[in-house]
Order: sequence, then C-alpha cells, then structure tokens
Amino acid sequence: MYQIIKPLLFKFDPEQIHHLITGGLRVANRIWGVKPLLKSSFQLNDTRLERELFGLKFKNPLGLAAGFDKNADFIEELAEFGFGFIEIGTVTPLPQPGNDKPRMFRLPEDDALINRMGFNNQGVDVVAHRLSKLDRKGLIIGGNIGKNKITPNEDALSDYIKCFDRLFDVVNYFVVNVSSPNTPGLRDLQEKEPLKNILKVLQQRNLKDDISRPILLKIAPDLTDSQLDDIIEIVLETKIAGVIATNTTISREGLSSPDTLSKETGGLSGKPLAKRSTEVIRYLSTNSNKGFPIIGVGGIHSAEDAIEKMEAGASLVQVYTGFVYEGPGLVKRILKGMLGVES
Ligand SMILES: Cc1cc2nc3c(=O)[nH]c(=O)nc-3n(C[C@H](O)[C@H](O)[C@H](O)COP(=O)(O)O)c2cc1C
Repeated sequence: MYQIIKPLLFKFDPEQIHHLITGGLRVANRIWGVKPLLKSSFQLNDTRLERELFGLKFKNPLGLAAGFDKNADFIEELAEFGFGFIEIGTVTPLPQPGNDKPRMFRLPEDDALINRMGFNNQGVDVVAHRLSKLDRKGLIIGGNIGKNKITPNEDALSDYIKCFDRLFDVVNYFVVNVSSPNTPGLRDLQEKEPLKNILKVLQQRNLKDDISRPILLKIAPDLTDSQLDDIIEIVLETKIAGVIATNTTISREGLSSPDTLSKETGGLSGKPLAKRSTEVIRYLSTNSNKGFPIIGVGGIHSAEDAIEKMEAGASLVQVYTGFVYEGPGLVKRILKGMLGVES
C-alpha cells in the first residue's frame, strides 16, 4: 500500500510531507476504529522479542531514531506502528528555528536523505511539559539532548545539564548528541577531553540520588579508528550506559544521485550509510570486548539490515530513513525477520 502512494508523497517537499503525515496521523487516530486497525496491521507483540538492557524492559529491539519526532508531538501516534522505543529530540535548552529551508532532501536513486535541519525544536521546557502529560503505556522514551547554536562550545556542558535536569523525570534514557554535522563546531565535542568532561559531569549528576537514568553517547560515522579508541576508553571510564552508532555522515562516497542533490551540505542517511555504521558498531564491540551495549542505526531498510547490525554487536536498533522509504510496514517486517518468520 505504502509503495503505491509513495510516488505521490515523494512529489512534495520532504519536510512538508513529514508534517502533513504526522498531522494526518493525529486526526486519523481519533477516528473510531482506526487505532485497533493500526494495531492489527502494524504491531507484532511476541515475548521472544522482549529485551532487557541497562535496567529497562523493551517490548522489542526496534526503535524510532532521533529527529523524527523532535518535539515529542506524535509519540502516541507513532507508537501505534509497533516500535519498541521512541527517541525524541534532539532537544536544546532554548527553542530554535534551525537552518533556512529547504533543509531536507530526498535522494531516491540512493534510498537516502540529506538533512541540515540544525536542531529545530521547541526547547526543553515545552517538550518536558508535553511528555509529562503523555499516557505512555509502558513505552520506552529516550531523550536526545544537544546544545543551542548560539551557545559556544566552552559553555556546551551547561546546555547538556539543563536538558538533562529538565527531562530527567519524563524520559527513560538519555542520549548525548555530539555528532550532528548541522550545528557548527558540535562535532568538536567528540574530542577526548571535552567529551570526557561532559559525560563525567552528567554521570556524576545522574548517580547522586537513588534514581538514575541510562546515559548513552551518539557518535558520528566519520570518526577515525583512533577516535573510536578514545570513545571506548571514555565510555568505560565514565561508566555511561552505552553508545548509539551512528548519526548521519558527511561523506558522499558511492552515491548515484546527481551532483545537484548529492552536493547539498548536511548529513547523509539511509542505505549508503549502512556499511559504515555497521563497521563502527563492529569496531566498538570487538575492541571493547563487548564492554557496553550498542544501539545500531544507519541504513536499516530491511530485516536483513537490522540482523546484520545485531550480528556486528548491536543489542537494539533504530530506523529513520528506512521508515520514510519503506513505510510503516517496515517495523513488522523487521520484527518478523528477527523471529525468523517469513513476511
Ligand atoms: C531529517 C533527519 C533529522 C535528524 N535529526 C536528528 C536529531 O535531531 N538528532 C539526532 O541525534 N539524530 C538525528 N538524525 C539522525 C538519525 O537519528 C539517524 O542517526 C540517522 O539518520 C541514521 O539512520 P537512518 O539511516 O536510519 O536514517 C536525523 C536524521 C534525519 C534524516
């Protein structure tokens, strides 16, 4: 069904269609009978899919990656598609508009997207308030946090702390995002000393009372082996819960799309990212001796892609671009594939 309407959807600007579909979902969900229909069409509930990781119980190992629902606007609607967890954000302390439009581009020849959204979001207060009102029905929600564009890197820590404190009561885990290519200078925070400092302070804050939240670090696929070695050392030393690998890439290697598209600045996601993100997962898992859990993300468009990430060392996986290209049926297809059941 999705493959039939996709050519029509793809005629519109990607950001506009994103808002149109999520808004439409909200309206549809209020119509009597739609929710049970979505549930029976898209969800797969099976105890064999359940996972327990960093003290949290996931009903299945497939999540929606950050960036899709930045402001926690559509969690209830998105949950109907059967995700085991949903990551909101990236959220910053202050609301910010993000970069000028257009800032999201489809590369259909490559099953890919390029985006330079620039952390457009309504700010942590609005998002925290919205999450506090949510009927989450046991759904695991991750809070992906970042810094405002106007905050210099020297003060980045205080932005992460603000978001951490404000979201603490309303999310199940945190993701420290230092890997978006679309906030100038942000990725410099992946360097050893600034990164260690941010994670150390957040983790100290996290562990000071009885209740704590798992903190994960989201990294770029463009790091060198020696930078990945530093990441392993920092994660083990600060004892954070794990790593999300990976964010979008600045590489444009091997694309078939015309230069006018592939030369757009921003982060590339989707199929061309799959191989590199799997390599990063495998490197981290092998070289840390499976020292911490990894959430694998990047170019998952099928059950085989998801299984490949898990075989490389991921305990959980997430999708974004695959969800756009393959449609909501992808969730059930991946979960069936994990169970070894034919779609
Ligand atoms: C339009 C768009 C916006 C994104 N925004 C964020 C974000 O705000 N924070 C973040 O950590 N990752 C963000 N991502 C990255 C995704 O969470 C994911 O790591 C990446 O796209 C690779 O997965 P995929 O190939 O399945 O899309 C964004 C991706 C896209 C396509």
